[in-house]
Amino acid sequence: MAIRNIREMGDKVLNKMSREITEVDKKINVLIEDMLDTLYEANGVGLAAPQVGVLKRLVVIDVSEEGDNPIILINPVIVETSGEQTGEEACLSIPGKVGTVTRPDTVKVKAFNRNMEEFTMEGTGLLARAFCHEIDHLDGILYVERTTGELRSSFAEEEE
Ligand code: NI
Repeated sequence: MAIRNIREMGDKVLNKMSREITEVDKKINVLIEDMLDTLYEANGVGLAAPQVGVLKRLVVIDVSEEGDNPIILINPVIVETSGEQTGEEACLSIPGKVGTVTRPDTVKVKAFNRNMEEFTMEGTGLLARAFCHEIDHLDGILYVERTTGELRSSFAEEEE
């Protein structure tokens, strides 16, 4: 297990399409563990493989307060959305910034787990937002392409 370097906006890897995973081999398992370590170290909510320089369709998310409920999504696809939420969004690849993004309020995803078994999962609120944000990363899209208005500094909030 190891902390990986998080790529920042301007790095071209963040604008590329990621490829589907066909088999969860040792390398993918190590990548999953490293991504979880990296996510928790950075106090993030979600991390997509391209953010650590790997163009594979893999996402890790943890929206729990305690950081003890990781969600691992392999080849995730959004199958259903409803409602709307408008709120602040941030990204570990764009440190120190936040922007306002409108997303669906309920999102159902279909994905595969580490045993390559297909499952579906529904999220609302922050989890729905995380599903959309992280799956966007797999298509080379950063939230700054979806913001309403300017990016703002997040430092004022961090000082509270
Ligand atoms: Ni992000």
